[in-house]
Amino acid sequence: MGAKIIDGKQVAAQIREELKAEVIALKAKNIVPGLGVILVGEDPASKSYVSAKEKACGEIGIFSDDNRLPAETTQDELLSLVDRMNKDPKINGILVQLPLPQHIDESAILLAIDPDKDVDGFHPMNVGKMVVGEDAFLPCTPHGVIQLLQRSGVETSGAHVVVVGRSNIVGKPVANMLLQKKDGANATVTLCHTRTRDLAFHTRQADIIIAASGWPNTVTADMVKEGAVVIDVGVNRVEDASRERGYRLVGDVDFDAVKEKASLITPVPGGVGPMTITMLLYNTVESARRANGDYCTE
Ligand code: GUN
Repeated sequence: MGAKIIDGKQVAAQIREELKAEVIALKAKNIVPGLGVILVGEDPASKSYVSAKEKACGEIGIFSDDNRLPAETTQDELLSLVDRMNKDPKINGILVQLPLPQHIDESAILLAIDPDKDVDGFHPMNVGKMVVGEDAFLPCTPHGVIQLLQRSGVETSGAHVVVVGRSNIVGKPVANMLLQKKDGANATVTLCHTRTRDLAFHTRQADIIIAASGWPNTVTADMVKEGAVVIDVGVNRVEDASRERGYRLVGDVDFDAVKEKASLITPVPGGVGPMTITMLLYNTVESARRANGDYCTE
């Protein structure tokens, strides 16, 4: 029997409708959530992410201050822009698109962002708060994964989740978030990575697999227990001469084969992808509320 497909576009659209209503309510109090976006350089994937973020802000009524800087921008120039945004009361969230060019120290930039405007959840202050279970901006892709699980009715409490990949953006935070003593978490978590011996031994025991390795076909059907839930965070370009643009997008999971064994699975594209930007919008609206002393989350 084939797996049910988790439709990330549909879940994202539902959350965006909820956010649109919240933005309308904030605007009635003269509060307009604002997001500062900074892209340095010409990386094609980053350019398309940033354009999608700007468009999504417009659609739900968030003001977006877009800054596209040349690849030669110095670290000091970037720091001054971050500083200007830190001080600007119209900006509730700051997003510096990663990766940055080699000559810029990424951690120095992330550290310079005011933690109260860190809607990416990458500042060590927010990472630390998340790990100890305090309120913090949660990083968008892992938060999106958890929303997809919750809104698809997947029970994580007591479940064995195997995360494949230990990046700072996905693997480490999603593992930490799922082991918290909180609703929507309470899982037993195994975090696998490139030095894990016998990856399949671990994934075969998983009730839920979260694939975030960054390589196509990292998770194949023989590595999946019958009835497991499979969340594919990967976005990989593979050459495809039959497509006009010369490539197609695939995840980290061998989707066609794994969907025959899983009970629920996310596709690529159209699974986790639409959730990342949605949770960025969520954090920006939340930040605008907090900045104005409005904690109401009805
Ligand atoms: N690059 C890839 N994913 C992300 C993300 O979620 N935020 C930022 N700022 N850069 C990224």
